[in-house]
Amino acid sequence: MEQQQQRRRRDGGGGTEEQQQRRRWDGCSFTEAQDWTTRHLALTLHVDFPARRLRARVALTVEALRDGLSSLTLDTRDLKITKATSNGLEAKFSLGDKHSFKGTPLTISLPFELLRGQQAVVEVSYETSPEASALQWLTAEQTAGKKHPYLFSQCQAIHCRSMVPCQDTPSVKSTYSARVSVPKELVALMSANRDGELPDNLDESRKIYCFRQTVPIPSYLIALVVGCLESRVIGPRSRVWSEKEMVDAAAYEFEETETMLKTAENLVGAYVWGQYDLLVLPPSFPYGGMENPCLTFVTPTLLAGDRSLSNVIAHEISHSWTGNLVTNKTWEHFWLNEGHTVYLERMIAHCMCDEKLRQFVAIGGWKDLLEAIKTFGPTNPLTSLVPDLRDTDPDDAFSSVPYEKGFALLYHLEELLGGPEIFMGFLKFYIQTFAYSALTTEEWKKCLYSYFSDKTEVLNQVDWNAWFHSPGIPPFTPHYDTALADACVCLCKRWTAASDSELSCFSEVDLKQMSSQQKIEFLSLLLLEPPLRLNSVKRMQEVYKFNDIRNAEIKFRWLRLCLRSQWEKAIPLALEMVTVQGRMKFTRPLYRDLYNFEKARQQAIDTFMKNKPSMHPITAALVAKDLHLA
Ligand code: BES
Ligand code: ZN
Repeated sequence: MEQQQQRRRRDGGGGTEEQQQRRRWDGCSFTEAQDWTTRHLALTLHVDFPARRLRARVALTVEALRDGLSSLTLDTRDLKITKATSNGLEAKFSLGDKHSFKGTPLTISLPFELLRGQQAVVEVSYETSPEASALQWLTAEQTAGKKHPYLFSQCQAIHCRSMVPCQDTPSVKSTYSARVSVPKELVALMSANRDGELPDNLDESRKIYCFRQTVPIPSYLIALVVGCLESRVIGPRSRVWSEKEMVDAAAYEFEETETMLKTAENLVGAYVWGQYDLLVLPPSFPYGGMENPCLTFVTPTLLAGDRSLSNVIAHEISHSWTGNLVTNKTWEHFWLNEGHTVYLERMIAHCMCDEKLRQFVAIGGWKDLLEAIKTFGPTNPLTSLVPDLRDTDPDDAFSSVPYEKGFALLYHLEELLGGPEIFMGFLKFYIQTFAYSALTTEEWKKCLYSYFSDKTEVLNQVDWNAWFHSPGIPPFTPHYDTALADACVCLCKRWTAASDSELSCFSEVDLKQMSSQQKIEFLSLLLLEPPLRLNSVKRMQEVYKFNDIRNAEIKFRWLRLCLRSQWEKAIPLALEMVTVQGRMKFTRPLYRDLYNFEKARQQAIDTFMKNKPSMHPITAALVAKDLHLA
């Protein structure tokens, strides 16, 4: 009996590997988050560009959540571990088997037992792999300035473990500090407030940048960039950073940042992170934006010249509350991060412009949802709001579904419960209730029922099970005001109905009154229809000259339309777009469309194979799957 208990304590609760994995609430992580939590993480990084490695040390302040713990499992991926200590004493460690996307568990045996509430400092010395999935190492030739190499990270969802051995689950939050040694002509930034610079006493060609994040954050929000960066002040708490070639264009494009921050603060309360800076990355950055605390990362494809894509900034700003303060407990509840953030992003549009605009973008979002469901197939489990991710890589599960099904649910609730003002009351309460913690969908629902305790009957009308767990189109279709969308629908109908002889009635005047967003919506609508005839797309180019347009959202949809109509002239243009930028939202569908166009398939594969070594590791892995090469 006694012996059994001891053994159970030793191997962290007992049971088979499978039973242990079931007890872990985050199926995407090997760490025992029910036993241990990390309070602070102190990083020492030496950025080695020639070797494409971080030579590093991390000191984790971990706390036992129950008595008798002496073994800690951390997540790693492709790391070389050289040493582990615990409170300064040498500790034994061992690496487990490598899992295809979860990486390799690192188990550290502490030379002592901890009681509940006790802390220990576990220090791990390690090196990252040149293939670390969180990192892209760019050569000087791959940068705008062509003179210096560049490094950036992207940790969401589960790539942090390839940069730092840690409890890589969003259910654990900790503060962090860092010292980063880089060549002295370069600048290092992190998802933290800047905390001074020091000479590197070991090497006078280098210097050390210091950082401090004093708000507890999940590991996926740790971020690093090193490059030849400049900055411009764009607001009282904001700078924009990028290579000098685009810093002025970026300062212009993102001029509304402070207004957006103030608008968000009026809606949901104080911004607690200190600085809100923006970083414009090189074109291979795989996302539109990433809400790294104190320093949002964005793609340069937002630089449209007319601020027409600034909703991405409103979105990333909104994550300062939903996502970064209030966090999904596991990636199955990702909609809590993204659905609420899209809701807030659109409330910012409502406040800074008007309700008509919010309604218009909501219509566009619903179309994106339909498109995602069409791509996955309506019975695909990944189209559920709360999918089962036990055997799925979160990168493979990623789509518009958590964003737009999540938004549709929140909008549906807004309508049921009495409008935006009333629903914002709940959102504020939700943020106050769960700030600095992580939660599940069930906890969200309990919070909703407790806030609207006088409206239980209304809430009971919602088909919760269908919303959360059924794949495909949601159980309720929201109705939106079509004032701004009508022009797009009308023009789309004219094109789909036009015979060859009627093509002459189109002219550039058709677009004169339309905003960039309306042009995007017009093309999105056409993409939901069967392909246009080749003559029609040729005529469209003649009158609207979409090939000359810089706006990446317009260009992307236009090229897809051309490829679907099998216009060969679009092939080199599409191949160019997937090569000069790597935002997955554009690159993956274009590659898929090229693959589905018989005449373009081989060229698409050849282009990918040629570019793969210089592509972002996450993008390369997913495009390989899209092209059926993996
Ligand atoms: N946090 C996401 C990006 C992300 C999600 C990266 C999951 C890795 C895994 C970010 O906030 C986001 O949603 N970006 C969108 C912006 C859009 C919805 C306005 C994007 O990248 O396009
Ligand atoms: Zn987001």
